[in-house]
Amino acid sequence: MSTLITNIGELTTNAPDDDDRLGTVQDAAVLIEDGRIAWAGASGDAPAHADQVVDAGGRAVIPGFVDSHSHLVFGGDRAAEFEARMAGQKYAAGGIRSTVAATRAASDDELRARLRGFARELLAQGTTTVEIKSGYGLDVATEERLVRLASEVTDEVTYLGAHVVPAEFADDHDAYVDLVVGDMLDACAPHARWIDVFCETGAFTVAQSRRVLEAGVARGLKPRVHASQLGPGEGVQMALELGAASVDHGTYLTDDDVAALAASDTVLTLLPGVEFSTRQPYPDARRLIDAGVTVAIACDTNPGSSFTSSMPFCIAVAVRDMRMTVAEAVWAATAGGAAALQRDDIGAIAPGKRADLVLLDAPTRVHLAYRPGVPLVRQVWKDGDAAL
Ligand code: NIG
Ligand code: FE
Repeated sequence: MSTLITNIGELTTNAPDDDDRLGTVQDAAVLIEDGRIAWAGASGDAPAHADQVVDAGGRAVIPGFVDSHSHLVFGGDRAAEFEARMAGQKYAAGGIRSTVAATRAASDDELRARLRGFARELLAQGTTTVEIKSGYGLDVATEERLVRLASEVTDEVTYLGAHVVPAEFADDHDAYVDLVVGDMLDACAPHARWIDVFCETGAFTVAQSRRVLEAGVARGLKPRVHASQLGPGEGVQMALELGAASVDHGTYLTDDDVAALAASDTVLTLLPGVEFSTRQPYPDARRLIDAGVTVAIACDTNPGSSFTSSMPFCIAVAVRDMRMTVAEAVWAATAGGAAALQRDDIGAIAPGKRADLVLLDAPTRVHLAYRPGVPLVRQVWKDGDAAL
């Protein structure tokens, strides 16, 4: 089965040429064959035949968004906490425990129905790949349920048993870490690709975080880390020592952190929805990018710190409040996310890549930031199939 998308006003390929990292082609076409990109380029050079032709009407096409950080399996919500925060209360990691109680109480079917609803919500907003973490179970049985349910909707599953210490271990945090690296890891590792830890005051110390990540790596999981979200710390340096694919949040980075990130292969994943929803200061993406750090953008969809699932919204905020250019933000939300997940088959529109594309109801990708809050996603192709 082949599909030719013609009359694309602006095509963002992320296949860089000399002076354009986004590999932009005006008046372009894309040929999809058997779920993969077969060809992309100027309309005039397009192959003549395809089983099906779609006229993009001069609109823009971009790669599907790669949302490399979410917590989509949970029960309940925390609207009251958000309302209180907007009235002046501070965000604290401890709120996670109330979602743990609601998640433990929910059945598999309830969690699955909710998760599938979120998956549809993401796809409708142009996200074609999403990473999903556990972390609202915090006991062996519930963490296993969360990674297993997540694996029903994505290959990018992350075991985050070390999200916070649950109330029943309040007097002995190290005993909880024993569980995370013991029976809980045994139960969760078969369903996961990644291991993550919340390395932060109020969650896990650097030594505990290292222990968790090393145990996961020994089981074949790859490390990624939540760090420097609520204040500066040693988490970034520890993540780099362990070769983490990504450090996420990075709201409070020191100059040493930035220099070390720039010298590494680790991606720094910014989560604009978190600063938006917690009223924390926005990290300065300009400082990171100018220093040479590879930056991704993700939604961090979760009921506490960021309950948006909209990559276009996060792009708009990153441009407006984190000082990214539109091109940088679009790259970070597509190719950047792919880099954060160490995937070379997604995040670009080039021969051989998965045919994950978004047709915008706009003449240029600039509208993603220029028209915040407007539903601009007109069509999505996932593995070559039209999804909307
Ligand atoms: O990525 N930082 C830790 N975990 C989530 C917050 C989860 C919550 O508040 O429920 C985050 O922001
Ligand atoms: Fe998170």
